[in-house]
Amino acid sequence: LGHEQTYYEAVSSTQSVAHRLAQEGAVEGHLVVANEQTAGKGRLGRKWYSRAGSTISMSLILRPELPPQRTPQLTLLAAVAVVRAIKQETGIDCSIKWPNDILINGKKLVGILTEMQSEPDVVHSVIIGIGINVNQTPDEFADEIETVATSLAIEKGASIKRAPLIAAILNQFEVLYELYISSGFSAIRSLWEAHSISIGTHLYARTTKEVIYGYAQGITDEGALLLKDEAGKTHQIYSADIEIAS
Ligand code: BTN
Repeated sequence: LGHEQTYYEAVSSTQSVAHRLAQEGAVEGHLVVANEQTAGKGRLGRKWYSRAGSTISMSLILRPELPPQRTPQLTLLAAVAVVRAIKQETGIDCSIKWPNDILINGKKLVGILTEMQSEPDVVHSVIIGIGINVNQTPDEFADEIETVATSLAIEKGASIKRAPLIAAILNQFEVLYELYISSGFSAIRSLWEAHSISIGTHLYARTTKEVIYGYAQGITDEGALLLKDEAGKTHQIYSADIEIAS
């Protein structure tokens, strides 16, 4: 992965560029990286802030032979790869909040956005976008995220080099991706659950339709969150914002 790369000093969104390159036939593992994004995209249509020199903005093009409903598994795999790479490069332990936020002490460090281009039964490409707060100082966060975001440099008390971290993410990703292709999702699922702070806790899941309070039992093979509500009914949640109840 990452043998072919497209690098930008500044770009609107590496995710949009990766979509275009995938349509134009880019190979599996093609990586789009930018020093700065001017219109970064987050999950659920939100804005994602990236800052010249201080953040990692990368989008990886994959071409797995999978049915479309299995692509959420790749998001979970990506989260495990990033957690392991961060540990390897900085010594910092972080945790995953379902589906794919990476947090330290409850503050957001990494966001992952997975999108795919597919027909009903066949995936053409999966684009995994990863945004990491690396070297921001507390005053460099936008007002609306300053209380909920953190960076590796803040947590470590020292600045962190971005290129080795990107390389470590690609290496970890490759190891897990090969394991996934050869042995399926179960090995990835147990690694994901081991790093997760959402499983085995009570939480609120805000979907577009409702808020469900319950106990998070685990995740399904499709990456859905299994949430048992107070009436004992188990819900499968595919897309939601999670708030862990303390
Ligand atoms: C989220 O937590 O909402 C997901 C954020 C994903 C951000 C990354 S940065 C690289 C890639 N390009 C984008 O425009 N978004 C993703």
